[in-house]
Amino acid sequence: MKKDHGKIDEVHILYNLDDLPGRIGLGHIRWATHGAPTQVNAHPHVDCLNQVAVVQNGIIENYSEIRQELETLGHVFKSKTDTEVFTHLIEEKLKKNLSFTDALRETLNRLEGAFSIATIWVKDPDKIFCAQKECSLTIGLGANAAYVSSDIPTFLPMTKKAVRIESGEAAILSEKGYEIHKIADWSHVSRKPKMIDWVLETAEKEGYPHFMLKEIHDQPSTLRTTIRLQEEYMELMTTFLDRANELYLVACGTSYHACLAASYMFSKMAFLSTHPVFASEFTAQIGRTVTIDSTILALSQSGETTDTLAAVDYARFQAATILGLTNVVGSTLTRVSRVYICPQAGPEIGVAATKTFTAQLSVLAQLALKLAEKRGKLSYQEMKSYREKLKQIPDVVERVIQTQENKVKKIAKKYRDQPYFFFFGRGTGSAIALEGTLKLMETNYLPSMAITTPEVEQGFISDAIQSGAPAIFVCPKDATHKQIVDAIKEIKAKGASIIAVIEEGDEEIKALADDYVEVEEDVPELLCPIQCIVPLQLFAYYMAVVRGLDPDRPRNLTKAVTVR
Ligand code: AGP
Repeated sequence: MKKDHGKIDEVHILYNLDDLPGRIGLGHIRWATHGAPTQVNAHPHVDCLNQVAVVQNGIIENYSEIRQELETLGHVFKSKTDTEVFTHLIEEKLKKNLSFTDALRETLNRLEGAFSIATIWVKDPDKIFCAQKECSLTIGLGANAAYVSSDIPTFLPMTKKAVRIESGEAAILSEKGYEIHKIADWSHVSRKPKMIDWVLETAEKEGYPHFMLKEIHDQPSTLRTTIRLQEEYMELMTTFLDRANELYLVACGTSYHACLAASYMFSKMAFLSTHPVFASEFTAQIGRTVTIDSTILALSQSGETTDTLAAVDYARFQAATILGLTNVVGSTLTRVSRVYICPQAGPEIGVAATKTFTAQLSVLAQLALKLAEKRGKLSYQEMKSYREKLKQIPDVVERVIQTQENKVKKIAKKYRDQPYFFFFGRGTGSAIALEGTLKLMETNYLPSMAITTPEVEQGFISDAIQSGAPAIFVCPKDATHKQIVDAIKEIKAKGASIIAVIEEGDEEIKALADDYVEVEEDVPELLCPIQCIVPLQLFAYYMAVVRGLDPDRPRNLTKAVTVR
């Protein structure tokens, strides 16, 4: 077994990964979920007897209780990963003289979460066993070899013949080919291979024309992951939040918009006073007041944005407590944070942040909920209802994409020649209006502006809006609704074209709007931003496409701003 942390080329130079004996093998590039990116946490993981090896993607939710149980039985764990429980659980079952497939089936049935695995056993050295629950896995069939991978591009240079393994299924690869079974009862599944007509670049985008669209569509799945994050880190972060007298939420760009939405969540659910601050302004605006008693929650998709790290460095120097929320384990932000959480949205390639934004919102909502629970600020029934709604959010987002995408495409076509846009919102909706503006500006180079509706009276209502100008309103049916309706009437009276993101069945706004898209009703106010941003992401994407622009590579922008 050869494994280490670091870049693939560096590990290869150190170990020569080509020089391994045998006819079968497992390889894994780890995107750390549990445990730091170190050699001991790198995959594969093996049991106590070095007989079963496994690689895994995704998260095993109930690993902690299984690990405790197995440690009591004398199993010695080497890593901090959730993965390792898999091998020890099989080992335990093999001890009871189960066949390997029975041990595998029982193990898979015991594991909860969203994951895919591939495993080998020394006593059956010509087979690879694999399985998935809500986590992609595909078999590739070459002339003299079979492959199994979470991503088709890995085997595409060798073969285009592929068979998908569906959620809840296991497969066995051998010289004879492949067999697929249902994990629940091991019944046989018959599925023929298909030819994939993708070139490598399309395969990396999983058939989507752009990474931005793929990543918008990834959101139901990334949100499912965020509601399964490691409980102990969420708990630890909540303990630090509970100790904070006041909390500074520090970030740039999209991450800053997540901070804005979070400020409503923390104060409304948990009664914690928070201050969203642009990282670039942090030292000048807040600097003098930062002390050992201050708590800073820094948000950064990349974990490398210079302004965010500079703010964090300044606060560390004042001995403040630094908490981090970043998508990249091993990034600078993870190294300088007392506690960090990684929302596990997976790599985001499109320059415009999409799935990492909703993943951040989901984690922040969960933290606010946990804090509310700890502080006794919500009743049992309220907590229960929030938890249930949070669980439904991935499906809600999935339905919004399914039902609204074509409508958004048509709206983009209609407004493609408009030279500028205005976005309006209130409460958490104002954070979404800002994020919608940023998405449109960065992918379309169109000047656009976000206004929180009460501010309309402060100047905007002079003749700033011209007849026919597009005005996009974010209209959740919460306490802000009446005020939004009034603002729509006022802006409409100026001759603007009204485009509204409304909740299903909002007849009042439907009657006022020139165009509308619908998100779902009955999503609590503080979770609503997660669904409301989706049509605006799609709008920015389709505007870029109909205007002949490349949404993945906006001019003059980089994914992480690492200069000042
Ligand atoms: C968002 O679409 C932009 N790419 C940009 O504003 C980004 O959010 C900002 O640079 C912050 O990046 P970070 O989250 O990696 O720190």
